[in-house]
Amino acid sequence: MHKKDKVAVEELERRCELGGGGGRRGKPSLVTDLMGDPICRVRHFPTHIMLVAEYGEENEIVGVVRGCVKNATTGNSLYVKLAYILGLRVSPTHRRLGIGTKLVERLEEWCKEKGAEYAYMATDCTNEPSINLFTKKCDYTKFRTPTMLVQPVHAHSKPIPSDIAIIRVQPKLATSMYGQIFANSEFFPKDIDAILTSKLNLGTFIAVPRNSLSKWDPRKTLFPPSFGLLSVWNTKEVFKLQLKGVSTLKYACCEGSRVLDAWMPWLRLPSFPDVFRQFGVYFMYGLHMEGKQGVRLMRSLCTFAYNMARDDGGCGAVVAEVSQRDPVRVAIPHWRKFSLAEDLWCIKKLSKLHETKEKETVTTTTTTLNVGERFEPSDWTNARSSSPVIFVDPRDF
Ligand SMILES: CC(C)(COP(=O)(O)OP(=O)(O)OC[C@H]1O[C@@H](n2cnc3c(N)ncnc32)[C@H](O)[C@@H]1OP(=O)(O)O)[C@@H](O)C(=O)NCCC(=O)NCCS
Repeated sequence: MHKKDKVAVEELERRCELGGGGGRRGKPSLVTDLMGDPICRVRHFPTHIMLVAEYGEENEIVGVVRGCVKNATTGNSLYVKLAYILGLRVSPTHRRLGIGTKLVERLEEWCKEKGAEYAYMATDCTNEPSINLFTKKCDYTKFRTPTMLVQPVHAHSKPIPSDIAIIRVQPKLATSMYGQIFANSEFFPKDIDAILTSKLNLGTFIAVPRNSLSKWDPRKTLFPPSFGLLSVWNTKEVFKLQLKGVSTLKYACCEGSRVLDAWMPWLRLPSFPDVFRQFGVYFMYGLHMEGKQGVRLMRSLCTFAYNMARDDGGCGAVVAEVSQRDPVRVAIPHWRKFSLAEDLWCIKKLSKLHETKEKETVTTTTTTLNVGERFEPSDWTNARSSSPVIFVDPRDF
């Protein structure tokens, strides 16, 4: 990409954030820094693209959208080619001209060319312009509403009970474990091994009761009777966030709480995270627990991830996103006012590929009429979720 265009896209992102109230006194907002790489949020998908919309004789960049195509499950171990659409922005001075719609339509064409059967996107459930654009103009259906749980990083570290052992799981073993656990969930990516071996993955960790450690041999039984499992993704290397537009008084109170916490860490004051300077986020994904002590083990794993983030120095929060019906939800510590109760995911069926393939199968291999029903293509977009679990791909975050 041309350096001039990179700068123009970054400038556009900034204008969009300012248009949303970012940085103005009394109206706090979270500003994202893509660190000079406009495709940073899709770069880690092997098949990705960024499209821009140019306007007028000057070819000014007034809109941008990113997308990627991957293989992921729809539940019941079925894999489909799936497009993820993200980072749609239109300059505040050029809105309601159909530019956003055009960008999405053009991106969908590219996704279809790459073989995607479905496309999905995620947005804050209060973002009316975005929801209207996707549902009213582009035929997306409101699909799933996972919860984003945000745990602020204080100045103090937190203790992990001494009867719990936390062990790093090597990527190969983690791939087998995740394959077994998440095959029936939705959105589980086929290239999980690429995620687990990425340099952004800080590790996969399993928590087990210390007294059961000697009895567990993963070559014999993959899982111990009681365990918690999660992986940690370092989004700090992808983008940074910063809270801007906070009043001087609020800023002083928040900074004060942090200074106290740093001075007296043994009190474990719930101090305000250091979010007024640029900060990064650790994303916990692939969370799963089993057995009688599952909740306690998962809580300890979250504490472990928190301590990793705290030791990093540049992290403001540890975030997880899980389905509302996922049992692990109760074990993830978070601040409710920082969290997002409903992250709205919308979906659309892009192609009739499924039907065509199945019709062919029916005509060439069957003679009985009711076989056609057996092959009847199911449309995921209006299917009830077959699993209470959604695997949130850390690259989507
Ligand atoms: C969302 C956004 C991309 C829309 O871009 P746009 O070029 O203005 O969109 P369009 O002109 O194609 O609008 C398409 C439809 O979206 C809906 N829409 C757009 N802006 C809207 C608004 N402010 N309020 C309500 N509905 C809106 C309307 O249904 C509109 O159709 P209409 O103009 O015929 O009524 C733009 O507002 C934006 O960049 N917002 C900030 C970033 C953001 O939230 N991105 C989405 C992240 S998923």
